[in-house]
Amino acid sequence: MKYQSVQQAINKGKGKVSLQGWIHRERGSNKLKFIVLRDSTNIIQCVLKKDNFKNWDEIDKLQVETSIQLHGEIKEDKRAPTGYEVQVSSYNIVGPSESYPITKDQSIEFLADNRHLWLRSRKMIAILKIRSTIFGAIHEYFRKEGFHEYQSPIFQAVQCEGGSDLFKVDYFGKKDVFLAQTWQLYAEPAIFGLERIYTLAPSFRAEKSKTSRHLTEYWHAEMELAWADFKQIQDYGEGLLKHIVKSVLDKNKAELVQLGRDWKKLEPTIKKSFVRMTYTEALKILKDKCKMNVPWGKDLRTIEEEKLTELYDVPLIVTHYPKKVKAFYMTEDPKNPDVVQGCDFLAPEGHGEIIGGSHREHDLEKVKQRLKDDGEDPLEYGFYLDTRRYGSVPHGGFGLGVERVIKWICGLDNIKDTIPFPRTMERYKP
Ligand code: 4AD
Ligand code: MG
Repeated sequence: MKYQSVQQAINKGKGKVSLQGWIHRERGSNKLKFIVLRDSTNIIQCVLKKDNFKNWDEIDKLQVETSIQLHGEIKEDKRAPTGYEVQVSSYNIVGPSESYPITKDQSIEFLADNRHLWLRSRKMIAILKIRSTIFGAIHEYFRKEGFHEYQSPIFQAVQCEGGSDLFKVDYFGKKDVFLAQTWQLYAEPAIFGLERIYTLAPSFRAEKSKTSRHLTEYWHAEMELAWADFKQIQDYGEGLLKHIVKSVLDKNKAELVQLGRDWKKLEPTIKKSFVRMTYTEALKILKDKCKMNVPWGKDLRTIEEEKLTELYDVPLIVTHYPKKVKAFYMTEDPKNPDVVQGCDFLAPEGHGEIIGGSHREHDLEKVKQRLKDDGEDPLEYGFYLDTRRYGSVPHGGFGLGVERVIKWICGLDNIKDTIPFPRTMERYKP
């Protein structure tokens, strides 16, 4: 027997169909049973008439989430949820279902405890389809631009983004072994062979903050480019985000609508240039337009990023942050050594940082000094410092937090729904 997907059946619109899926909703009277059947493609109303079946008792007791195959006749019906209805002539129960624990209006906690079941919800299916498009788009973009896919180790022995949020692991009793915060320090050595590289891999941060934008395990799309200047790094970030948003608008408008996302708000990201400004200019705008006074030298907080990005309909690229709030590897600005050639991409509508990148300091002595200033022992970074000893070149790269991008594109309040099994300070089960 050949089965169509629900969407294929709807596209066909009339005649005989065979479908398989799960009972998404059910209701009945003493003469009729209505089933909304769900598969990965869509939902459709199916109706069973008592007169046509001998085993009405079994039909009457069908539970939500039963897996079922059914055969019948499809026709247009304006009253049905997706505009079509199937008159069922025969069916086959594949897997009966116990009383399904997820019903309407359950608490966020309950849904998190039952995440393995909640993945079947229409909301999660829509988000996970968009997530899949985004993963595909990232690979497409970098490969189209001639980047090689390259992997760093996940067990690492040095920090790159500050020691406070490292996950220590018990590595056969050895001290100072951590889960990767970023691929960067192990990616830079590879540009001397491959020149342009990217990855899409998990990163780990022992974030103690309970916020709507932090996970302890997230997917990180990173790139590193030899012979690059700072502007090129920003241009690739802009190109990547444009390609991601275009891919989602091409493939997933239906899912965005289902999530209640106004997809028109994403169009400027494709059509217009991103707004680029320095940190110092950003402080001035915050002061003039948002009445927020940030003393020069302080990093932007979430609330400030939110207010700033609410002023624009495209992502912002904020550059030239004070040296002391950014990582040791960022190049000092040749015109002003108090600021560095680092950039944060901030998503519009208050979503905040989605990309962090920079030009990399390629002078050996300067890197050593900056490590010492951060309280690190340069001897631990021997392999990394060798990249500045043997044919150092200007280079740079960035990291994009995939879940942050999904949160923005889907217009979600919280990052947790962007990933199948979110890991946070408080949750590592199921
Ligand atoms: O700004 P970050 O810390 O930069 C780096 O890790 C660089 N080494 C990247 C590079 O140049 N190769 O992190 C990059 C991005 C952030 O902009 C954010 O989108 C995301 O990673 N990110 C997180 N996403 C979810 N949960 C967290 N706890 C995150 N921490 C960072
Ligand atoms: Mg950052």
